[in-house]
Amino acid sequence: MDAATLTLFPGGSAVDADGTLRIGGARVDDLADEFGTPALVVDEDALRRRAREYAGGLSSRWPNSRVVFASKAFPATAVQRVMVEEGLGLDVAGGGELLSALKAGVDPALVVLHGNAKSGEEIAMAVDHGVGLVVVDNADDVDRLEATVPVGRRQDVLVRVIPGVTAQTHASVLTGHEGSKFGLAPDAARALIARIRASSRLRMRGVHAHVGSQILQPEPLAAAVGPLAALGEFEVYDLGGGLGARYSYADLPPSVGTYLDALIAAAREHLPVEAEIIIEPGRSMVASAAATLYRVVTVKRGATTFVAVDGGMGDNLEVALFGQRFEAVLAGRLSEPATERAVVVGRHCESGDVLIDGVDLPSARVGDLLAVPATGAYCFTMANNYNGNRRPPVVFVQEGAARLVVRRETWADLLARDVDLPGATGGS
Ligand SMILES: Cc1ncc(COP(=O)(O)O)c(C=O)c1O
Repeated sequence: MDAATLTLFPGGSAVDADGTLRIGGARVDDLADEFGTPALVVDEDALRRRAREYAGGLSSRWPNSRVVFASKAFPATAVQRVMVEEGLGLDVAGGGELLSALKAGVDPALVVLHGNAKSGEEIAMAVDHGVGLVVVDNADDVDRLEATVPVGRRQDVLVRVIPGVTAQTHASVLTGHEGSKFGLAPDAARALIARIRASSRLRMRGVHAHVGSQILQPEPLAAAVGPLAALGEFEVYDLGGGLGARYSYADLPPSVGTYLDALIAAAREHLPVEAEIIIEPGRSMVASAAATLYRVVTVKRGATTFVAVDGGMGDNLEVALFGQRFEAVLAGRLSEPATERAVVVGRHCESGDVLIDGVDLPSARVGDLLAVPATGAYCFTMANNYNGNRRPPVVFVQEGAARLVVRRETWADLLARDVDLPGATGGS
């Protein structure tokens, strides 16, 4: 096994003498036997360590600050609950994430609601539950809030601003550039801020920007601070998320400390000293705390060696969506040297259903366990039912013990929404 192999798995992962991977102290063959495959395995301690690293890192640099976890990166109630237990707030994008955040026990005052197209129903849910901050993306949000907030109450809001910053990342996850569908250009933001200040139902607390996701340099993230400051002095500046995660051996994302150094240096330069700073990390909070276990279903050898597994774009859309590079290992054969270059493909009816376009593995066999590290961000989020896929379970591991926190979908779940077939039943 190459020394680099384990570095993409959650810290503390290890290999037994027989070459089997352990995550969070649990052997992956035991996990696969108990929970089946594919399965998303989360090292709970790794998750907690990262939450503390973020919270401690930010508060030590800027005491009047808060970390809110961007739930969209891993919107499982159990993950949100870990963040809540670690003292973080939760950023939610829509009613569904709000409901799971509340189920996770969050103080509604620590919730930040986002969305570029929030429905009236979602705005009403936020107001009814006492969400701390609603991030206004457009004038229609203000219309809906004014129609919803009861007389005598005021809803605290931030205004989302386009900072006009680009970064090196995939176009589909870039959000802070001119022409973005998210937020308002500075002039439009100024006009909306003036309207909110005049409103009897809203309280203008501050401004927000989010440059994009999977950003591997701190500079573009820090570059959003100046454009926000140019809009004036506010009580709150929400600087979004966006720090990249380490997916492949070649990735070198900045550490949380390096990122915060850059962000807070920009804050010291541009923001009022008494202002509150919020950050909303998602991907970099959760990606590296998890790995997905698959079972090899078939191996085809020809000009290319295809190793096909029992999952794919039904549980990991990151590859198809923006070409993210992942790595993989045969998780029960880590003591064997790699002998062939394989293309790891999924079971879905798309040629684009490629999990890893070339990875060196020992000669794979049917029944081998294949583990893909760094699948904690946006994989659970975008799991889908393509080809009748049953979305995989989420298993927390800690000190060798495993517990199921989200069960696998059943065949019955797949049929449960059918309403026009009286008498139809499904198996489980
Ligand atoms: C408003 C907002 N905040 C935070 C995030 C989290 O970003 P990331 O997961 O890249 O940290 C996103 C992601 O798209 C977002 O839209």
